[in-house]
Amino acid sequence: MLNPFDKMVVPTYYGIPLKDLNPELMAIMTGKAGVVIIRDSGATPEEYAEWSLGLGYHLSPEIWCTDKEHSSLFWTVTNEMMDDRNQGLFGDYELDWHTNMTPVGDAEETIGLYAKTITYDTETWFANSVPYFTQLPEEKKQRLRELTVILDPKRTLGVIKKAWQPAFKKIYGQEVLDEIVKNRMSREVRDSINMEPENKEKFGLSRGIMNRHKLVPDHPLGVEGLFFSPYEVHGFSLKDNPLDNFGEGLSKELWTELWEDYVQNDDYIYKHKWQEGDIALFDNIIGIHRRPDIRKDKPRTLLRTATWYKSNIREHYNYVV
Ligand SMILES: [Fe+2]
Repeated sequence: MLNPFDKMVVPTYYGIPLKDLNPELMAIMTGKAGVVIIRDSGATPEEYAEWSLGLGYHLSPEIWCTDKEHSSLFWTVTNEMMDDRNQGLFGDYELDWHTNMTPVGDAEETIGLYAKTITYDTETWFANSVPYFTQLPEEKKQRLRELTVILDPKRTLGVIKKAWQPAFKKIYGQEVLDEIVKNRMSREVRDSINMEPENKEKFGLSRGIMNRHKLVPDHPLGVEGLFFSPYEVHGFSLKDNPLDNFGEGLSKELWTELWEDYVQNDDYIYKHKWQEGDIALFDNIIGIHRRPDIRKDKPRTLLRTATWYKSNIREHYNYVV
């Protein structure tokens, strides 16, 4: 059995310097457990950035919110202004359940967040589908393995559950909107700054924005769970046959089951309350995350890295979703 737990268990390291935490092992833990927390490591943002080169392959995020102060590996997630027109990435509005691997399914597989400035009680919630999937009967697992998810990235087909969607056009100027689009189209693992030349060609090219993907992904570390970003699902199909008239019938039934038994189930949720200096590493493939609404009048800044699992810990180079 790949996951011996029937609940979400979050490995947490207190007071251990980063130099004593092997980044390769931490990457494996992130994939197997979904989330890893490192608290009071004493690491500066620069030390975390340096250490994170061992966690996975990084692209240099050439985007308006690239951190200018600590490391070019960071995106800054903040409600403060990055320049005289534009707020930081995902600044001050609610972010409901999502994974950062939509709509570009071949984008970075893990995220790391370093809490730089925390001035009030604020949380990020994580859901992990692996323990949920583990406890399902074998027959049910087999059925889910055969399903394809139809996404609605352009919000034209209709989604089963409508909710939050970032109001990018209200928040950012045109130059930033152009950069967001450009950035989405350039998530190529082969271009990573720390990719070994001999491994580069083993990875497939990014397929760009995707409107269908496997429900049970081919996880690079072999864990089995669900790639389920609930607010973007239009429906499900079996091979190429839609299960039903999307949004009704069997698609809606299955969606509701996953929503209630997995996403709304405390057994599979971890709510992280931030302290300055915290590092949260999480898998984007089998987990989703959300941030309850945050204050607009007080500073909150996280430094974000995004990585692919490295070759030395991967079981394969197939497309994941
Ligand atoms: Fe996110």
